[in-house]
Amino acid sequence: MHKDADQSHKNVPPTRDEASLGALPVPGRRQVLTATALGAIAMTAPSLLGKRRAAAQTAEEPERDQELGDRELTGKTAFITGGARGIGLATAEELAKAGANIVLYDVASRTLPHVPYPVATESDLEQAKVQVEALGVRCLTFKGDVRDREAQMRAMQEAVNTFGSLDIAVVNAGVSQAGAIEEFSSEEISTVFEINVAGAVKTTQAAVSFMKPQGSGRIIFISSALGRMGNELFSIYASSKWAMIGFAKSAALAYGQFNILCNTVAPGLVDTPFADNDFILSRMLPEAPNPTFEMVSEMSRSGSPIPVGHLDPIDVAKAVLFFAGSATDKVTGEVLDVSYGSLARSIA
Ligand SMILES: NC(=O)c1ccc[n+]([C@@H]2O[C@H](COP(=O)([O-])OP(=O)(O)OC[C@H]3O[C@@H](n4cnc5c(N)ncnc54)[C@H](O)[C@@H]3O)[C@@H](O)[C@H]2O)c1
Repeated sequence: MHKDADQSHKNVPPTRDEASLGALPVPGRRQVLTATALGAIAMTAPSLLGKRRAAAQTAEEPERDQELGDRELTGKTAFITGGARGIGLATAEELAKAGANIVLYDVASRTLPHVPYPVATESDLEQAKVQVEALGVRCLTFKGDVRDREAQMRAMQEAVNTFGSLDIAVVNAGVSQAGAIEEFSSEEISTVFEINVAGAVKTTQAAVSFMKPQGSGRIIFISSALGRMGNELFSIYASSKWAMIGFAKSAALAYGQFNILCNTVAPGLVDTPFADNDFILSRMLPEAPNPTFEMVSEMSRSGSPIPVGHLDPIDVAKAVLFFAGSATDKVTGEVLDVSYGSLARSIA
């Protein structure tokens, strides 16, 4: 059965969907763009902080740089769905380090009907706020479901009342499912699509109602490497993540005229409770008596050219920061694969 959310993260592994990425042989054109884009992140991370810093930074002066700031998101407000833990929390911390005030919106209910592993708890959400505020910015938290557009509107309105604007929306909340295609119940299928796809649409609807009058905004979608390929075990989840990319590109077309830029990050396997839980691990490694995240990562690593088997949440957060900052102020409708080369053979 499902693990308790508070315990699940470190003792159970994640999904093979992401892990199997590296094993899939598909030739393609995307690798050039992907390698370039990832290289750009690695090499221009300092330049996100400004030319002066990029030129001046030495190993001896990291603290001075920190103090000097170059906090390019200072004065901005970032709204992050699913921000109580995992990639959402790491993203909140990364954007906070860049100076943004943070709004964490999370269902924080421990369990969700038809989701086969624990989601975040209220205590996770409270702890996330403490961690974000420790970085010297302000943080609001809201317990709410991304399936509820009006609740997100209210949270965003309160954020605007408090901080003055809504500049960045990170469409991150998502849930997974795993199993044989013919075994999924109607409720399980609907839940994945209502959260991952309709939820993304509703977060976007709410966000643009504030960003359009401002004439600016960044919306960053967290899809998946499984939104770039098929996977028989994660078929429902993978198709929801493909749909998310289709929506993000459509939103880029719809809102470019308002200077609202919409881009997507597509991570491979990430070390979070989303992947590291009993249900997902047992589906990915049905033969293993005690499946672990490390086993899944090892499987994944065997297909990686680097070789790396999984990401830490901060690896994804840095890509979100890239799309939130001035380095990408002429970029919209793009997808950035952050997937340790596992998509280098993909044509998506
Ligand atoms: N972990 C991975 O291997 C991985 C890989 C690729 C993509 N992703 C994607 O990254 C995103 C974040 O994943 P994560 O690994 O941090 O997962 P996670 O389960 O650790 O975090 C997801 C957060 O979303 C919240 N949430 C779930 N349903 C919600 C709802 N209906 N309304 C509001 N909040 C809700 C949860 O409480 C949790 O805090 C997801 O969209 C996921 O699909 C994850």
